[in-house]
Amino acid sequence: MKKILTLILLAGTLFSFAQNELPDDFLSSEFHQERRDLVREKMPANSVAIFFASPVRNRANDVDYVYHQDPNLYYLTGYKEPHAVLLIFKEEQDGPEGSYDEIFFIQPRNAMAEMWTGRRMGINGVKEKLAFNQVFNNTEFEDYNIDFSKFDKVLFYDFYNDVRDTNAEGDLYDLIVSFKQKAGYPTEGDLTIESSANNLDMETLDQIMKDLRGIKTEEELNLLRKAVDISCIAQVEVMKAMKPGMSELEIQGLHEFIFKKYKAEYEGYPSIVGAGNNGCILHYIENYKPEISSDEMILMDLGAEYHGYTADVTRTIPVDGKFSPEEKAIYDLVYRAQDEAIKACKPGVNIQRDLDFAIARRIINEGLAELGIIDSANQRHLYYPHGLGHHIGLDVHDKGNYEYLEPGMAITIEPGIYIPEGAKCDEKWWGIAVRIEDDVLITEDGYELLSDIAPRKSEEIEKMMQEPSPLDEFVLPALDED
Ligand code: GLY
Ligand code: MN
Ligand code: MN
Repeated sequence: MKKILTLILLAGTLFSFAQNELPDDFLSSEFHQERRDLVREKMPANSVAIFFASPVRNRANDVDYVYHQDPNLYYLTGYKEPHAVLLIFKEEQDGPEGSYDEIFFIQPRNAMAEMWTGRRMGINGVKEKLAFNQVFNNTEFEDYNIDFSKFDKVLFYDFYNDVRDTNAEGDLYDLIVSFKQKAGYPTEGDLTIESSANNLDMETLDQIMKDLRGIKTEEELNLLRKAVDISCIAQVEVMKAMKPGMSELEIQGLHEFIFKKYKAEYEGYPSIVGAGNNGCILHYIENYKPEISSDEMILMDLGAEYHGYTADVTRTIPVDGKFSPEEKAIYDLVYRAQDEAIKACKPGVNIQRDLDFAIARRIINEGLAELGIIDSANQRHLYYPHGLGHHIGLDVHDKGNYEYLEPGMAITIEPGIYIPEGAKCDEKWWGIAVRIEDDVLITEDGYELLSDIAPRKSEEIEKMMQEPSPLDEFVLPALDED
């Protein structure tokens, strides 16, 4: 008897221990509540806004991809589960249980499903932890009496046809079907404007979300700074550990191990680790090369995602720890373009016009011409084929405005030069690919470089690469080749 009691007590302790071990530094319910209030403030009179959860996506057979919540819904609720829909009303609505200005339909609790695929919050969890009043199971949406025709505007994002109908009642597919019927959205094969309700608005919501998500609060910045610091520590440790003969996958693994060591749950985008000519493929994610060689550089573009917020940091380093003269010429040119652009970051400037065309792209074009890689600074070329930067946050290419920079914006500055094998220039340049990408916070009077822990200057990188690494001792047994 005593034994059983002890076991029960132990199980109880273990259970509460497990509960307490969940991280508690996610965005607060007050943050999400305030964000919903701000959406409501920006909505037009007599309108309702609808946000759906992201679909569960199938990888193959009975295995799905890791679920990732729709960043807008996450920003507004903190809810991380699928099969949900949020309605925000501009004005208070009258209901049988009093007035309300938001309703959240979520996936029901289900002991069997939770045993297989994880905890669910359920109605009580959402009420308590996410501070909602009006919460229902998604199975109740179909019969929920809501007259969308009475609103001047029904704001939502248009649908893409990639949502599977599962056998669960009230799943995302059912929620969308119910919404379309209730709101008068044109049905399949009948996509005429006349057939749809004329209060449907699929434009306004995105602008509202850009206005809000593009300016980070202190609470968001705490998470973003953490994601950036973790990503930079990984770059530094990999600089120390780098050796010819490593594989691209191994280097990817070192970064991602360090992300997880610091409790960043995911990567914010598929990791890009390209040695030599592979660096010329902007989003090279196979990371296949089995042995990187001492005479090439390696481009590493990886971002830790911490509680939803992702960094986006790239470092390009010489595999053997020493830039060759050609590598250094290209590297220092990209560095100069990036450094000048970073220094010009401040409220009021436009990324493309003032930072890219007037500074980074001009410096790169003049430099390429000086090196004889292009004939003149005005020659059109594909050696720098992408933009200078973008917002970061819950998405790696985050929502935000691009007219002019404002305090609280978090952006990347990431010029690059990519010279593939066979390019029309001296072949001594072939296979040189450099991107340097840093994360910058715009402040009242300028900027703060968030990713300054990871060295950027060629000399500083060479110095860092001479440091011993704790990973030098990490030797694993060889695989049996038989
Ligand atoms: N990692 C993707 C990008 O730099 O935009
Ligand atoms: Mn980027
Ligand atoms: Mn990147």
